[in-house]
Parts: sequence; structure tokens; C-alpha cells
Amino acid sequence: MKRPETIKKPEGKLAVLLPGLGAVSTTLIAGVLLARKGLASPVGSLSQTGTIRLGKRTDNRTPRIKEFAPLAALDDIVFGSWDLFPDNALESALHAEVLDSKHIDPIKDELAAIKPMTAAFYPEYVKRLSGTHVKTGATKADIVEQLREDIRTFIKTSGADRAVCVWCGSTEIFLEQTEAHQSIKAFEKGLLENDPSIPNSMLYAWACLKEGVPYANGAPNLTVDIPAMLELARETQTPVCGKDFKTGQTFMKTLLAPGFKARMLGMKGWFSTNILGNRDGEVLDDPGSFKSKEVSKLGALEQILQPELYPELYGDIYHKVRINYYPPRGDAKEGWDNIDIFGWLNYPMQIKVDFLCRDSILAAPLVLDLALFSDLGKRAGFRGVQEWLSFYFKSPQTASGLYPEHDIFIQSMKLKNTLRWMMGEELITHLGNEYYD
Ligand SMILES: NC(=O)c1ccc[n+]([C@@H]2O[C@H](COP(=O)([O-])OP(=O)(O)OC[C@H]3O[C@@H](n4cnc5c(N)ncnc54)[C@H](O)[C@@H]3O)[C@@H](O)[C@H]2O)c1
Repeated sequence: MKRPETIKKPEGKLAVLLPGLGAVSTTLIAGVLLARKGLASPVGSLSQTGTIRLGKRTDNRTPRIKEFAPLAALDDIVFGSWDLFPDNALESALHAEVLDSKHIDPIKDELAAIKPMTAAFYPEYVKRLSGTHVKTGATKADIVEQLREDIRTFIKTSGADRAVCVWCGSTEIFLEQTEAHQSIKAFEKGLLENDPSIPNSMLYAWACLKEGVPYANGAPNLTVDIPAMLELARETQTPVCGKDFKTGQTFMKTLLAPGFKARMLGMKGWFSTNILGNRDGEVLDDPGSFKSKEVSKLGALEQILQPELYPELYGDIYHKVRINYYPPRGDAKEGWDNIDIFGWLNYPMQIKVDFLCRDSILAAPLVLDLALFSDLGKRAGFRGVQEWLSFYFKSPQTASGLYPEHDIFIQSMKLKNTLRWMMGEELITHLGNEYYD
């Protein structure tokens, strides 16, 4: 890959477009508005609070990432969204019950001013929802054209210079690739014929890619994981990445599993269960949407542990993931893990993890980083799958033929090395030369 000769400066405003104005989107928007006013700090956001070491350890150069890479500033972000419910961001944030009034009151008016555009929504892809704030059209191709028009109009009326899109809409039913997904031509035919294998999320992604707007996929939907999307992304010089924000239990899994493997401890089983009561939980109560999530959650462990290389340690693991909709908990999810490991002479041990987390609080900073890094990628001339952003996803999208990297420490190194490389700095390999001096 060629190093970018120049990276366009982040001049003007950046439109962050969010399909789905639910718990995650409103938590993100509120956090950015509060941070701008100095009323909160963007905890959990690598782009805002993280640093990056440059050069040798003795050089003492460790700038903040946002000062090192030319990222858009929080002050320059304008938010746009779509939803099948007409609630504005204030109403939706109140409904989601993620934030206390002390975080909502100071930005009430700004939240109320963010109103969703009508959604592209065919209900058969998200069985538990029905709404009236939706587009109508004879074909899916018509709907894509309406979405493209939305994007252009939003950029114009908000005074933005450019846009990025992060999917924060619901999880759709599990879909597999079909003929219609194989090329631009086949996909466009499918749009005209209302092909059932083209769900709502693909309509947004297609509209974005046509407009050269980077698309990050926060749900386990198939969306940009198909050859037609990648062909279009290449053609329009647009970055894509996904899928499924890595926040709670899978985040824990990709922290712990690399450690067990590094120490060559064996594993017999990993049982994960969750209770959550937000709208996301309600959608995931549908078996079709759960299947998408389950597939996304199961992959990480196997890739990290590489049972084919270590059959005696990881060749016989029982891995189970459960999600239970339990309304009293709202957005405050509880994820339990029971891990059966074994050590020297096969002696068994157990580890229990009980993560009392907050789903949207964990997801919001990831959405911010993905928006800012996707915009950076676009300005640097990157296109297609952005593997360096695997850090943020449960099921990282890869170039065809490659396995995804799930180990969060490798993902973090890859992200930072990509930034160093992009900016003409030396890569850090952690290889010292003190052994020879
Ligand atoms: N919060 C997390 O930790 C986390 C982690 C990984 C993935 N996710 C995913 O992020 C997404 C958002 O999560 P959330 O908690 O905000 O859910 P949510 O249910 O609160 O919000 C999703 C919103 O999307 C809207 N929507 C659904 N289909 C749409 C469409 N076609 N067009 C426009 N709007 C549409 C819904 O009406 C809803 O308002 C979900 O898919 C979830 O699975 C969340």
C-alpha cells in the first residue's frame, strides 16, 4: 500500500450521519455537546484522550492522538440522523433512560433541534419494530435515491464540508450472501426488483457509498460485507468498516482470551449470558436478530485461541452465548461469564466475570472514534475495508481471504501503527537494540 502523499486538512464541518436515533446515538450526541461546553470529558474515546508514542523510548515524544493526526475537532461536528420514530434527540434520549437529567438539561435545546429524517424501513428485517416515520417508494432503488437526496440536503443545509455515516440502527435478521450481492450490476438490478436479500441497512450503505460517504457498521448486519459494496467502495474511493461495536462481553473476551493463550493455559468451556432491557434487547429477543448477534459474538474466541495450532489446549471448547431481554435493567446490562480453564497437569480452574456495564456508555465513544477515523481515512485516500479499525468491532471485516484479527492488543498496535505510517513516522515493533550494544 502506498503512503498518502498528502492528507487533506479537516477544514469546515463534518456531518456525522447516524441511521437510528436510539440509545447509542443520543448518548454519543449528548456527550459531544457536553464536551464542547467543557461540561464532560470524552472518557473511553481513544481519539480524544489517547496518546501515541513516536520514535525511540528515549525521545520522549508522546503526543495526544488528536494532536498528532489531523482529525476533525469536536466543535466542527454536526449530527444528522434517520429513524422510523419521529422523536427528536431529546425525546429519544429521555426514552432511552441512559443519561441523568444533569447531563440532559444543559443541552436540552440542542438535542431537541436534532430531528430524524424519515427512515428507509421495510419491517421484515427487524421484526420487533414498527413505525410511521418512513419513506415510501415503488422500489428499493427509489428509496436509495431518497437517501442520497437526504445526504446531499443535510450537507448543504448544515453547512458541512463532508460527511461520514455510522450505523446505530437496530440489528437486522440474519442474512447470507446471495447472487444479488455479488457485483454492482447485480445489486442495482436487485434494488429495482425489490430483492428480499437487500435489507434496510444496505440501502443506507449504498446511498452513502454512491455519495462517497464512509460507512461504519455498528451492528452485526451483513451490510457492507458483500462484494458489490466493496466494488462500489473502491470505485468511489470510500472507506468502509464493521461490524458490531465491541463493547461489553466480547470486549472482555478479547481482553482475557489473549492472556490465557499467551500463558498457554488450556480451556474447556466459556459460557456467556446477558440480561438487558433496552430497545436493543427487545429487538434481540427476536430469534432472527439474535442469530445475527450470536454469529458475531461466537467468532472471536476461536480465532484468538487457534485450536488448529493448539489442539491439546483449545481443541475441545464448549462456547455458548445467551442474551435475555429483561426490561427492569434498561440500558444497564449485566453480562456473566463462566470460564473453565486448566493448567499444569490439566488441573481445572474457574474464572467468573460479572460485568455490570452500561451499553450505550461503552458504545458512544466508539462511534465518535469511528466517525473521526473514517473521515481521516477518506481524506488520506484510503478506500474499501479499513482493517486498522478492527479495534472497534466484534466481527472485524477483512480483505477477502484473510482471517480477522480479534486480539485487542494486536488491534490496538495495528491502529496506532497505521496512524504512524500515515503520518510518516517510524513503526514501533518493540524490538530493542540493547542486546547488541
Ligand atoms: N450499545 C452497545 O453496547 C452495542 C454494542 C454492539 C452493537 N450495538 C448495536 O448498535 C445498534 C444501536 O443500539 P441502541 O442500543 O442504540 O439501539 P436502540 O434500539 O436504542 O436504537 C436503534 C434505533 O434504530 C432505529 N432503526 C431501526 N431500523 C432503522 C432503519 N432502517 N432506519 C432508521 N432507523 C432505524 C430504531 O427505531 C431505534 O430508534 C444496535 O444494532 C445494537 O445491536 C450496540
